[in-house]
Amino acid sequence: MKALVTGKLLEPILARVRVEHEIVVNEAERPMEREALLDQIGDKEGLLCMISDRIDAELMDRAPRLRMIANYGVGYDHIDVPAATSRGIMVSNTPGVLTDTTADLTLALILAVARRVVEGDATTRSGRFRQWTPFHFLGTDVTGKTLGIIGLGQIGTEVARRARAFRMPILYHNRRPVSAELERELNATFADMETVLSQSDFVSLHVSLNEQSRGMIGRAELALMKPTAFLINVSRGPVVDELALVEALRNETIAGAGLDVYEREPALTPGLAEFKNCCLLPHVGSATIEARTRMGTLAVDNLLVGLADRIPPNCLNCTDLGRDKA
Ligand code: DGY
Repeated sequence: MKALVTGKLLEPILARVRVEHEIVVNEAERPMEREALLDQIGDKEGLLCMISDRIDAELMDRAPRLRMIANYGVGYDHIDVPAATSRGIMVSNTPGVLTDTTADLTLALILAVARRVVEGDATTRSGRFRQWTPFHFLGTDVTGKTLGIIGLGQIGTEVARRARAFRMPILYHNRRPVSAELERELNATFADMETVLSQSDFVSLHVSLNEQSRGMIGRAELALMKPTAFLINVSRGPVVDELALVEALRNETIAGAGLDVYEREPALTPGLAEFKNCCLLPHVGSATIEARTRMGTLAVDNLLVGLADRIPPNCLNCTDLGRDKA
């Protein structure tokens, strides 16, 4: 069968596809252009796509033979899953394998903004570190501060586990509370959004992007945060209204932000790059050699199983397709 792989994977991982199928791989270190994607998809049965690709009804209509879309990543807001379902196409993602890696980066952002790590590095490199003084580069403690988690799913839970080492009480908001046992383990208390926003010293976002979460953190929500609190986002950029964030940073109604994702990624909202109290990373939540190897392996597992017309391990729509997951 024929498959399109829209980003480079390690060769031993790709070799597992090559032995069974004919594949076209985007070898460039950049996402496939939309036109190239539309041109290439026409005769493919399988697609292994990246989170930077828009996989919509237009693309699916160009691919009458397409039966399996394996996403290289856990977030799948760039894929129109209902459109795939209505065309009988299975869709999968790669949950679990990047949870620890993304949770680690969340802690890195919390520490970076609290202790002004990036700003301090720039100062030292540029020769502006001249002497130690009592008030030089004061940051804020992390240990013992309250961590607010919006979305206590797999990644949020791992962030909370790491925060225990910093003796941070957790306030969290979810659609539903987690079990009492997990709350005890994490020292976590369920609260409404307003309470989490207004009482936390760090507010960390771990929701997936959907119509409920788009723009979830806007002007009103930012206004609830303490002027000493930091916003951390490693989920999806459009969860935060970036214009409102720039306004809050400019008016100093929050203390800073640690971001890995952006509303109009990779573009930054004008003004955002000016703030020294922000750490801005280029969407690297899962960017370790280990996590990317696990993601590639799992995406290929899903692709191969789907192309064999069986149920992929991480199928997102098999139940809706009327296929038994068991
Ligand atoms: C994902 O898997 O959704 C991540 O954002 C990729 O880094």
